[in-house]
Amino acid sequence: MQINNILVIGSGAMGSQIGMVAALAGYHTTIQDIAEESLAAARAQLSSRMDNSVAKGRMSREVADEALARLHFTTSLEDGAANADYVIEAATEKLEIKRAIFAALDVAAPTHAILATNSSTLGSSKVASATSRPSKVCNMHFFNPALVMKCVEVVRHEDTSQETIDTTMELARSMGKSPVLVNKEIPGFVANRLMGALRDEALRLQEAGIASIADIDTTAKTALGHPMGPFELMDLVGIDVSYLIRMATFEETGDESDLPHPDVKALYEAGHLGKKSGRGWYAYDDSGAKK
Ligand code: 3HC
Repeated sequence: MQINNILVIGSGAMGSQIGMVAALAGYHTTIQDIAEESLAAARAQLSSRMDNSVAKGRMSREVADEALARLHFTTSLEDGAANADYVIEAATEKLEIKRAIFAALDVAAPTHAILATNSSTLGSSKVASATSRPSKVCNMHFFNPALVMKCVEVVRHEDTSQETIDTTMELARSMGKSPVLVNKEIPGFVANRLMGALRDEALRLQEAGIASIADIDTTAKTALGHPMGPFELMDLVGIDVSYLIRMATFEETGDESDLPHPDVKALYEAGHLGKKSGRGWYAYDDSGAKK
């Protein structure tokens, strides 16, 4: 299937960078968000990321400018979807919001368009049933920061067609990513389940006073070769994201051991959302450096 136009729903950390990845790969890309100020912030951040890449000699000014020119921003889902061949939804991790978005996309997007969700927890069958095209729905799950991380999990549900999977795998490759196929819906797929096991143990270790947060992070980096420790990673991804993912998992499984850890809940409720709010497990200055 030929893809020319991509629509990304949501202009948060994931949606904005997924949009930039698509534009850099040569696709005419639109990022849609209901919040004008979030779109403006995304535009400014992406432009400054491109400036950095140019300054570091990673990209020519021309390539950066062409990619930015291929990137459009809108508050109208209908306008963004009108000529979309492929849609990637990266809105908040709440099922009822996602289902409403998929129902609206089903009406507004051309019948050939594939509708993918970037959700890391909710299998796409949950949103496919809000559309009249379940065979054209799957998960296309990127990792934070999406401009850098190579992995994309492509997850099928029972009725996803092979054509949808093949097109999505090919799309990810064309974006310079390394897609992996997840054959069955399971909350957290593969990567977040691996990461969750490490994070849960890190939370238990700090709760029991076995080692400090900083020392647990240092151990993950210097003993296991991870680029970031589990607490640093929670701050990067967002405490709200960690919290909502566990809530969504709990809602799916009903298993109380899937509920967010009380310390994560406390940070979430206090509005300490990680790097983006200046405080999470660590405190950050305006440049995003640890204080
Ligand atoms: N956005 C975009 N680019 C970023 C970035 C960000 N937030 N942070 C760093 N980068 C870029 C830098 O600009 C730099 O690019 P360059 O090579 O062109 O100069 C490159 O990444 C390397 O950055 P740094 O040298 O500053 O720092 P590091 O070498 O430590 O790399 C990192 C930063 C890539 C974030 C690395 O620490 C890392 O890989 N961390 C682990 C990230 C991870 O595990 N992500 C998965 C999270 S789970 C998830 O997303 C699932 C979801 O469902 C919750």
